[in-house]
Order: sequence, then structure tokens, then C-alpha cells
Amino acid sequence: MQTEALIEGMNALGYKVANLSLRELSDGYDVFLERQKKAQFPFVSANIVWQDTGEPIVAPTTVVRMALRDGAKVKEVRVGFIGLTRSDPAFLKAGPSRRKIVTVDPLAAAEKNLPSLRQKADVIVALVAMDLEQARQLPKRMKEIDLVLGGDSTPGKTGMATRTDDFPEDTQLGRARLMYAGDQGKMLGEVRLTFDAKRAIASTQRSLVQLTREWPDEPKLAALMESVKVSINEYNKAQTLAQSPFASPQPASAPPANTEPAYTGSDRCAVCHEQAFAVWAKSGHARAFQTLVTAHQEFNPQCLGCHTIGFNRKGGYQNARVTPNLVSVGCESCHGPSSLHPGPIEAGYGKTDVSSCVTCHTKENSPDFVPAEYIPKVIHWKEAQTRR
Ligand code: HEC
Ligand code: HEC
Ligand code: HEC
Ligand code: HEC
Repeated sequence: MQTEALIEGMNALGYKVANLSLRELSDGYDVFLERQKKAQFPFVSANIVWQDTGEPIVAPTTVVRMALRDGAKVKEVRVGFIGLTRSDPAFLKAGPSRRKIVTVDPLAAAEKNLPSLRQKADVIVALVAMDLEQARQLPKRMKEIDLVLGGDSTPGKTGMATRTDDFPEDTQLGRARLMYAGDQGKMLGEVRLTFDAKRAIASTQRSLVQLTREWPDEPKLAALMESVKVSINEYNKAQTLAQSPFASPQPASAPPANTEPAYTGSDRCAVCHEQAFAVWAKSGHARAFQTLVTAHQEFNPQCLGCHTIGFNRKGGYQNARVTPNLVSVGCESCHGPSSLHPGPIEAGYGKTDVSSCVTCHTKENSPDFVPAEYIPKVIHWKEAQTRR
């Protein structure tokens, strides 16, 4: 569902070309073919190949003619694109009639394809899906490349964004320039090229635009996003409920009698910590689950970790049917499971401090987070106690 919406969105945005990477093949070659039919732009890759012939499974390169702005010295330039992905020796996909799809060394594939591309193009752009270190080798080895536009699908590095012109050390390699612009459409990478009369690049200018809330959504794309979110949420809901069809809600109070602390929910704390409870109940934390419901995302496992108590932890949030007491950011999201508290076994329960805010208030999910502004809004403790 997500992939089809992405293709529809890329069509609407007027994409001219996309790099084929291993992820596009994760559901198999047939599924990729179906999706490719819907794309109004070509996929290129020089190093995802048929094992038997070594030929790429899609075009290795393409040339896009781009009109230049009025007043430019030339009317049009030809931009040659080559697609390259990291080589993965373990990657092997079945194609039609027992053929197999594998990856080969991207540097070698570039060396093979670039001379002929150079003949047809004024500028060469390498679209790469690989880590930064590997990407930097490309223009060092192949002087034909003018621009490397990258993304990295290695887990933990997917949001990779490079520096721009202010800090050129890593991204300016001789004549070539390099840019990674994050993932999930949260940033717009912009490269402006100025050409001289011989259609050679006279200068480049790179910038990364954070697509914060200040940038309005395009209404048609926003509607598409919304309908996909609803469909995915419905799917996740069906899956979740199918996994626990007969489960009954856990009692909100009456913690189980054992020695390992369990989550109990926030309501229980109110009787003894009246003031802390009152502060919390008025805070955004107490509404964090409702926020997901409103966004049609309350069944999305990617969201639950920060919008519930203890999701993916033992005894933590599972779903709204089984653990209705563990929705939203509760006391135990910060203080930990509390079933043994208050009690002699675990005196000193609940040690935490404000340095833990950033486990959820990450750069990505809370770009405006400033301790001095956020902490006062949730303070329910003696201020002197606050350690940083
Ligand atoms: C029956 C009353 C009672 C309930 C219910 C209760 N607490 Fe407490 N809490 C206490 C008492 C008494 C203390 C101080 C002694 C201690 O640490 O055991 C305390 C201490 C604490 C402290 C440490 C305060 C400090 O000064 O360091 C935290 C944090 C805390 N409670 C959080 C919670 C949370 C969260 C809940 C609900 C999940 C909760 N408590 C439920 C009575 C209660
Ligand atoms: C378990 C994850 C988690 C932790 C830990 C956490 N937060 Fe939050 N916080 C959230 C979520 C999720 C929201 C959004 C709530 C919503 O849906 O509106 C939020 C919202 C807030 C808001 C409301 C923002 C607004 O403008 O209304 C403030 C203030 C805040 N957090 C402060 C803090 C502080 C300070 C800490 C550390 C002491 C902290 N948070 C720790 C998850 C967390
Ligand atoms: C790493 C923790 C984390 C994850 C994962 C997370 N959120 Fe949040 N979310 C937050 C925090 C923290 C805030 C509060 C941001 C603030 O006010 O600064 C927040 C706020 C929000 C808001 C309110 C923003 C606004 O307009 O005020 C929405 C909506 C939201 N999250 C939806 C989601 C959805 C949907 C997902 C899953 C796709 C998700 N979140 C995943 C931590 C997270
Ligand atoms: C966003 C994280 C967060 C949430 C949610 C949260 N707390 Fe706290 N709590 C803290 C921090 C941080 C401190 C200060 C700890 C320190 O610096 O020693 C604190 C301190 C406390 C204290 C010690 C108060 C004192 O007098 O010094 C109590 C009691 C407490 N919290 C109870 C609760 C209860 C009850 C809830 C839910 C109603 C709750 N907390 C929700 C983060 C949180």
C-alpha cells in the first residue's frame, strides 16, 4: 500500500528518474514489474544484473533533457543519470524462467557505463543507494561524475543527510559534489547548477530544506497520504485483533503478586501523588494516544513506542483491547514499571531525570524540543531536584 502510494506521489511530483535499489525488489521481481508499470518515470541501475548474462535488469543509465531558465547562455542541457546500489553478496532474487538476479561491484559497473554516457550527456549524476564512504569513492575513481545524489538503506543510517556548501569537506571531491538528503520525505535536497556557454558546470549551490510544518501540504498529495494511512491502520488493526481475539483487558489496578515489577497504568498513582497526577493529566503526554487515533495511526507499531507505556517491553502496551490502561505517555513511561511500588521490596522506585526526555523527543519527532521551554510544562517535582 505504501509503495503504491509512493509511486503515485512521485508521478504527481514529476519525477524524471529513480534509482533501483535492493528494497524495490524485496517483494520479488514480479511485484516490482507490476509497480514499475505504474511509474511514469524510469528506474535505472547499472549493477543489479541477471546472474547468467551480467546484463542489468533495467536500463543502467538514462539521459534527461532539461530546459534552462530564460537568460541562460544555453537553452538546454542533457543530464545523464546512472543508478548504483551497494553490492550485497547475499542478495539473490528469483526472476522468470529460473534466472537469478544478483548485484555486482558498483565501481566496476560505473567504469563500464560512464564513458558512453559521457558521450550523450553534458552532466553526469550518479544516483546511489549505498553508505557515504562507498559513495565518496565514486567521483574519486571516476572523474566523469559531476554529482552524487545518495540515500543509504543500511539500518540506523537511513536518515543520513550530508553537509551543504557551508561545510564542504566531506562532500566536495574535486569537481564533483555529493549530497544525501535524509529519508521519509522530511527534507528537500536542492542543487542549483549554473552552466557556461559550453554546457559545462560553472558553479553549484547545494542546500537542504527541512520540510517542517511551516511548509503547507499539497492538497492532493495530503489527501493521498491520508487515505493510505487509513488503509494501513485498518490493516494493522485487523492483524492486531486477529492475534489476540479472545484476550480480556488486564485489570487496571491489583498488580500481580510476584517479584518482577509490572506496568499498571497511571490512574493508580492519583490517590497518593495527587499533584503530580494533576500536572500530568493536563499535559500533552496524557493525550498522546488520542493524537495517534486522530491521525489514524493507533495501530502502527512504528508510532506506539513513544505514544504509549512500555510498548515492545515485557508487560507493556500491546493493543487498546488488551492493555487499555497503558495508552499514552504515562507515569511509567518515565518512571518504569511500578507494580511493586510503594513497598519495601523496591524502595527508591522511579529514579529518572530530565536527560531521558530525548529518548522520545528526538530530532526527528520533536524538532522544536528545547529543555528550557519543555520542562516547565511538565514539572511535577521540586525544581531543585532537577539534574541535567
Ligand atoms: C499507595 C500510595 C502510592 C501509590 C499508589 C503510588 N505511590 Fe509513589 N510513592 C508513595 C510513597 C509513600 C513514596 C515515598 C516512599 C517511597 O519511595 O516508597 C512514593 C515515592 C514515589 C517516587 C519517588 C519520589 C522521590 O522523592 O524520589 C516516585 C517517582 C513515585 N512514587 C511514582 C509513583 C508512580 C509513577 C505511581 C503510579 C504508577 C505511584 N508512585 C503510585 C506512595 C504511592
Ligand atoms: C515515552 C516518550 C516520551 C518521553 C520520555 C517524554 N515525552 Fe514529552 N511527549 C511525548 C509525546 C508522544 C508527546 C506528544 C503528545 C501529543 O500527542 O500531543 C509529548 C509532548 C510533550 C510536550 C507537549 C508539547 C506541546 O507543545 O504541547 C511537552 C512539554 C513534553 N512532551 C515535555 C517532555 C519532557 C520535559 C520530558 C522529559 C522530562 C518528556 N517530554 C519526555 C513523548 C515523550
Ligand atoms: C521516537 C519517539 C516517537 C515516535 C516513534 C513517534 N512519535 Fe509522535 N511525537 C513524539 C514526540 C516527542 C512528540 C511531541 C513533539 C513536540 O511537541 O515537540 C510527538 C508528537 C506527535 C504528533 C503531534 C504533532 C503536532 O502536530 O503537534 C503527532 C500527530 C504524532 N506525534 C504522530 C506520530 C505518528 C503517526 C507516529 C508514527 C508514524 C509517531 N508519532 C511516532 C515522539 C514520537
Ligand atoms: C515525561 C516523563 C515523566 C512523566 C510522564 C512523569 N514523570 Fe514524574 N518525574 C519525572 C522527572 C524527570 C522527575 C524529576 C526526577 C529528578 O530529577 O530527580 C519526576 C519526579 C517525580 C516525583 C518526585 C516528586 C518530588 O516531589 O520531587 C514523583 C512523586 C513523580 N515524578 C510521580 C509521577 C507520577 C505519579 C506521574 C504520572 C501521573 C509522573 N510522575 C509522570 C518525569 C516524569
